[in-house]
Amino acid sequence: MVRFVGVDAMIKLVRRTGLQPFLTGLCGAIESDFSRWQNFEKTPRIASHSSVGVIELMPTSDGDHYGFKYVNGHPKNMKEGLQTVTAFGVLSDVSTGYPILVSEMTLLTALRTAATSAMAAKHLARPDSRCMAIIGNGAQSEFQALAFAAITGIEQVRLYDIDRAASRKCAANLAGRGLDVVICPSAQDAVSGADIITTVTADKQYATILTDNMVGEGVHINAVGGDCPGKTELHRDILLRSRIFVEFTAQTRIEGEIQQLPENYPVTELWQVIAGTEAGRQSARDITLFDSVGFAIEDFSALNFVREQALSHGIYEELDLIADLHDPRNLFGVLGHGSAPFRGPQQPPEAA
Ligand SMILES: NC(=O)c1ccc[n+]([C@@H]2O[C@H](COP(=O)([O-])OP(=O)(O)OC[C@H]3O[C@@H](n4cnc5c(N)ncnc54)[C@H](O)[C@@H]3O)[C@@H](O)[C@H]2O)c1
Repeated sequence: MVRFVGVDAMIKLVRRTGLQPFLTGLCGAIESDFSRWQNFEKTPRIASHSSVGVIELMPTSDGDHYGFKYVNGHPKNMKEGLQTVTAFGVLSDVSTGYPILVSEMTLLTALRTAATSAMAAKHLARPDSRCMAIIGNGAQSEFQALAFAAITGIEQVRLYDIDRAASRKCAANLAGRGLDVVICPSAQDAVSGADIITTVTADKQYATILTDNMVGEGVHINAVGGDCPGKTELHRDILLRSRIFVEFTAQTRIEGEIQQLPENYPVTELWQVIAGTEAGRQSARDITLFDSVGFAIEDFSALNFVREQALSHGIYEELDLIADLHDPRNLFGVLGHGSAPFRGPQQPPEAA
């Protein structure tokens, strides 16, 4: 039987651990895997684009486990009452090739994206950062706010969304969680006084959520929403003033803010800063930019973390995904022509 963590089990796991301890644990798991970056197979994700969105597969392996995520991005879905981003993932044992975990990853993607963003800020933002602007107050936004509060010590969040109802929803969800939450009338107003700016809007185009004049010295930008070819959030001039950090360069060149720059423009991979082989922020006046697109290793870390949590709390279901046979060559026997072909609790159809 393969372990299955569905939406209900994921909610139970997060509640059992507590949201912020869960985000902090997840951040530690991702950081630990980033610090052994060389162990992983790495490839840009495989994207299937349509005129309304994208469906992607994100595989990686460390030689012991193999993981992949299926994820979509459909900005128009929200207006139809559907999620912009949905996902599920699989973790397998490399020694047998058998899947060992199937998990929902819609919630887990929001959690791992926020944990990765906060991990990057921990290494790149000014340590005295206390105020963060969040532009785009949709599904990802509360996770971002709470991960930054838990991991980087953010105390105030300044919200802006073109749809004020989204900001009100975000503020209501963050109420009572120890954050000072301010809804702002414009993006310009939101970024004023912010040490960290998170952009997490959804639009299938080259958008300009931040213009150059909106970003002052010393700011850390966490650019999350520009994650597809032809989909960016920052004016190019901001990139030219920033130290740019990416997950996996080959993928970010295709999907990130740096698609606006020449192919050879210098960027640093975040794992190098974590491993101590490259510098992060070099002065309090630097503008640092985490050009986040989301990379397979983050999902791999998240799947492993969820598996550990699920097993330790006993919160999972069992999925009848693999035919476990006494005689593995007698696959035909499962159709009812052999006697007791299964090793586990499965039964041939007529016995059920
Ligand atoms: N980098 C990553 O790892 C990663 C992971 C998950 C999602 N994403 C991306 O993050 C983005 C947000 O995802 P979501 O699930 O929160 O989407 P969502 O549709 O739930 O929310 C997006 C919000 O952005 C707002 N918005 C759109 N244009 C805006 C503008 N010009 N100014 C201010 N607000 C604006 C919308 O009104 C909406 O409330 C998507 O583009 C998604 O692809 C990236």
